[in-house]
Amino acid sequence: MKVCVLGAAGGIGQPLSLLLKLQLPAGSELALYDVAPFTPGVAVDLSHIPTDVSVTGYVGDEADQAMRDADIVVIPAGVPRKPGMTRDDLFNMNAGIVKKLIGVGASACPNACFAIVTNPVNSTVPIAAETLKAAGVYDPRKVFGVTTLDVIRSNTFVAQTAGKSTDDVSVDVIGGHSGVTILPLLSSVDGVSLSQEDIETLTPRIQEAGTEVVEAKAGAGSATLSMAQAAARFTMSLVAALDGESVTECCYVQVGDDTASFHAQPVVLGKNGVESIPELPPLSAYEQQLLDAMQETLAGNIKKGLEFANAED
Ligand code: 2OP
Repeated sequence: MKVCVLGAAGGIGQPLSLLLKLQLPAGSELALYDVAPFTPGVAVDLSHIPTDVSVTGYVGDEADQAMRDADIVVIPAGVPRKPGMTRDDLFNMNAGIVKKLIGVGASACPNACFAIVTNPVNSTVPIAAETLKAAGVYDPRKVFGVTTLDVIRSNTFVAQTAGKSTDDVSVDVIGGHSGVTILPLLSSVDGVSLSQEDIETLTPRIQEAGTEVVEAKAGAGSATLSMAQAAARFTMSLVAALDGESVTECCYVQVGDDTASFHAQPVVLGKNGVESIPELPPLSAYEQQLLDAMQETLAGNIKKGLEFANAED
């Protein structure tokens, strides 16, 4: 298994690479790429940890070498939010980074699974899809927006509220990955019965949890460590799936016939990426209302990504 991390020297990239060095199966290859000149040093640093995962570092114009024949490419590259910014405010800086990197990946590893962390995820994932499509190599089963951080935050907050171990809580989160498009399905958490009052307190907290971190870091960026854990969990699920296990994760994927139909929901992953997309569980009236209300925002985020991807460079 070859896993490539793009943006590997950054705030998310470094802890993510550490987690992957510790967790990937023996014999795997971990390729780290970043524009930061010290990226090969991050690779040397990690290579001293005694696991049977080889680590290599690439920099500058070596993104194609890093991605060459990768099975999975994880992309946290880009700039993070500062207080007062929405994820959409990052569009101008990060959209071009994703388009460029995916353009390289289209020829270096056209069969890879691409897992995108770079914000705004609601728009960068359609950009990735459209860029692969333009190169003639788009497989909708293999392009993912990583929304796992919304899931692990939900699990943490629900466990705290319900007085349970986080091991016993598994929340599905649907929609997208910003503000009102983040919809945790708190009415149907197995083994947990929350009051409507708790649900209406927890839902906005989960939707704004990224902002909680941005404000607490006071200008030094957004979630990095929890995001790294989330991206590592999603990557390890993909590794297991590509190895033949059937694994279900919530993630942001194409759910309809075209790239205008991206949506996060529980997805069954298998050896070719998305294996199936089960029907959503029954929603409460509160959840249905939030799902209906987010559609315009989500569609606008997707359209913005598609237009950017298709604009002349
Ligand atoms: C978050 O939700 C960084 O988007 C990421 O905190």
